[in-house]
This record gives sequence, C-alpha cells and structure tokens, in this order.
Amino acid sequence: MALQEGEVQLRAIEVRPHVGDHLSGGARVEVPSRTRFVAQALQRRHLVVERGGGLVSLCHREQGPCGVAALGRRCGRSGAGEDEVQPHPAEDSPESVIVDPAEARGSHVYRLMTSLLVPRPIAWIGTRDEAGNDNLAPFSYFMGVASRPALVAVSVARKDREGALKDTACNLLSTEVCSISMVSEHLLTPMHGTASRLPPGASEFAHVGLEAVACDLVAAPRPSAARVAMEGRLHSAHDLGSTHLFVIEVVRFHLDPEVVGDDGLVDERALQPVARLGPSGYAALGPLLEP
Ligand SMILES: Cc1cc2nc3c(=O)[nH]c(=O)nc-3n(C[C@H](O)[C@H](O)[C@H](O)COP(=O)(O)O)c2cc1C
Repeated sequence: MALQEGEVQLRAIEVRPHVGDHLSGGARVEVPSRTRFVAQALQRRHLVVERGGGLVSLCHREQGPCGVAALGRRCGRSGAGEDEVQPHPAEDSPESVIVDPAEARGSHVYRLMTSLLVPRPIAWIGTRDEAGNDNLAPFSYFMGVASRPALVAVSVARKDREGALKDTACNLLSTEVCSISMVSEHLLTPMHGTASRLPPGASEFAHVGLEAVACDLVAAPRPSAARVAMEGRLHSAHDLGSTHLFVIEVVRFHLDPEVVGDDGLVDERALQPVARLGPSGYAALGPLLEP
C-alpha cells in the first residue's frame, strides 16, 4: 500500500516481549514532516522519537525505552509507493533513553535533572528576617548571569505542596538583600547542616556552630569562615510556580587573600570548592584539563 505524506513505515522493530504485542513490523506511524525531534503517541502507550538517518526510538510511556526501528523513507507529495522505502539497519544506531517530562511521575524529573546538571556550584545564602533573625542555607540551582552589572541567579523551591516559602525566599522577598558564600571543602559538613529544617527564626549559624559576620553594604549575615562571599541586592524575583528564581546583583566581593592569585582572580585550587552532584552527592575539584 502506498504511504501518504508524513507517514513512515517501521521496519526491523526490536522490542522487548512485554511491549512487543503493541508493535509489529510494518506498523505505520505518523511523523510530522519537517520536525526533527518529535515525540508522537504510537498506539497511545508509546512515544516515537524521530532520529537522524531514518531511525526512530521507541519508548514505552511507563516502562521506558523499548527499541529502535528503521524508518522507510518519507513519501513525497506525489504519494510514492512502498518500493521506494529504504530502511536503515537498526543495529547501526545506539538506543536513546527517551524521557518526556510531561509524562514522568513523582520526582523523576527533579532527580534526572540533578543527575545530569553536574557538577553544580553551591550558593550558601545568608539572609535576615524582618525581626532580625539570621538564616543560612545552601542552593545549587545557582549560576552566574552577567558581569556588568554582576548578576547571579538562584532558584529557591517552595517548601511543600501547599506552596509555603522557604525562609530564604521569604527573607529575600521582604528584605531584598542577602550574602552568597562559596563552599570550600573544610565547610562541607557545616554547609550540609544548614540545609536542616529549623523552626522559623532559629539560626542555622548557631545550629552548626559557625560565626556570622555582618555584611558591609547590606543587612545580611555571612559565615566568617567562607573564603569567598558576595553581598547582594535583589535585582528581580520571578515566581515560576513551584519555585522562585531570584536574580541578585553582587555589590561587593569578599575574597580571602589566601585564595587570590597575583592576577587578582580566585585560584580554584586554593578555594577548594565543593560541588553538588545529583540530589544528594558532593564532589571536590578534579584534575584540571586542557582542551
Ligand atoms: C547542597 C544543597 C543544595 C541545595 N540546593 C537547593 C536548591 O537549589 N533549591 C532549593 O530550593 N533547595 C535546595 N536545597 C535545600 C535547601 O537548602 C533546604 O530546603 C533548606 O532547608 C532551606 O532553608 P531555608 O528554609 O532556611 O531557606 C539544597 C540543599 C543542599 C544540601
């Protein structure tokens, strides 16, 4: 039977037995024309992702990837016949694991993203509430954004399904200032301790036995033991639903002379930064590489 425009023919389908019932050689799948990477429902329970070289990945919605199939050549407007189908051998292409965030359950996307966005620097954020209580907590959804002005961004998720704010978000929204310290190896244990849930108003500084010193330009505390700290003013806050993205302008850097090189820059070897891996791991700086 002639293929219509936008249709492809699956050939050489390799599937695991538990999903094999739903697919068979010669099954037809619609793949929108001119779409390079499109997930399309196949028999409602599978995703088909078009790949280069006429190959598609098959992915079962609940059970994950289940095979690779060769595509026949897409038919032209004239409606070419099956004779023109030129399948590619499935063995030539490695299988992809396909994940559609809209279909994933529970915390899978969070765990997936934190497993692939690695290593992540940690922003150790000091804030003060309106009653004057100090707060300190680590955040690894953190990145540099711009240099003129000096901007960094950090994402502070809501605390629970009811949408309550973490103390850091509350304080940033109300006072609009903070400190951001970098975490060196000797601070790993106390930093981790500052992620504990304490009653509102209780200070993480006291909880982990760290000295708090006042910032110069903003009303926020910072841990005196940090080798690098930044004083920041809130540039903008973006309520993204499950999280707030805070863009913060750095108005002063505090650099321990021990980590500053002759060029005035921070020597990463001296800083000994700790990075976040996945949802719960840590890493030190590894070997330096040359491109
Ligand atoms: C290394 C590390 C990184 C973290 N990164 C984030 C993050 O990027 N966003 C977030 O909302 N929570 C993150 N957390 C969890 C917060 O630190 C934790 O919820 C903390 O209790 C918040 O404190 P607060 O209520 O005083 O603001 C991280 C925890 C650790 C240990």
